Amino acid sequence: MIGMMGSGKTSTARELGVLLKMPVIDLDAELENYTAMSVTEIFKKKGEPWFRERETTALVSHKADRATIFATGGGVVLSRQNREWMRAAGSVVFLETSLETIWKRVSKEADGRPLLKDMNPKRKLMSILTTRLPLYVECAHIQVNTDGKSPKEVAHEILKLIKPA
Ligand code: S3P
Repeated sequence: MIGMMGSGKTSTARELGVLLKMPVIDLDAELENYTAMSVTEIFKKKGEPWFRERETTALVSHKADRATIFATGGGVVLSRQNREWMRAAGSVVFLETSLETIWKRVSKEADGRPLLKDMNPKRKLMSILTTRLPLYVECAHIQVNTDGKSPKEVAHEILKLIKPA
């Protein structure tokens, strides 16, 4: 599952895991466990390039020997290696979410997003979305819009697309 921060990847992956009876791995959570730091702390103490390297290592270290749903971090598509690995390893689902919806969700978070620590976080978010949108589209096999939908509704929509009745 790929998409911007706040697009609901983790919650939708969990719902889809229940529907498909498949294990779910959240790559950010895996990195947090591995480093014993939050993503925000990793960015602050180690920097973004370090985080991106670990993100790729975490992603590609998973063997495609067991059907698993992966919730990735929003920036996973920045690396060509990650995009190619994901497309070859399985079905890539892009959770497409409008700038307004993402902003509504992330601006409420107390901890804040490391990448939005900016004088104008909404403008920064728009710039990130503009850069990444073509990468999400290029990488995805399936695209689902999530605006105004619950993770459960999105998971059912994905299920219909991957397993048509
Ligand atoms: C990031 C998104 C975050 C996390 C990190 C970087 C990004 O994950 O990996 O803060 O570059 O958009 P979520 O998309 O799960 O919020």
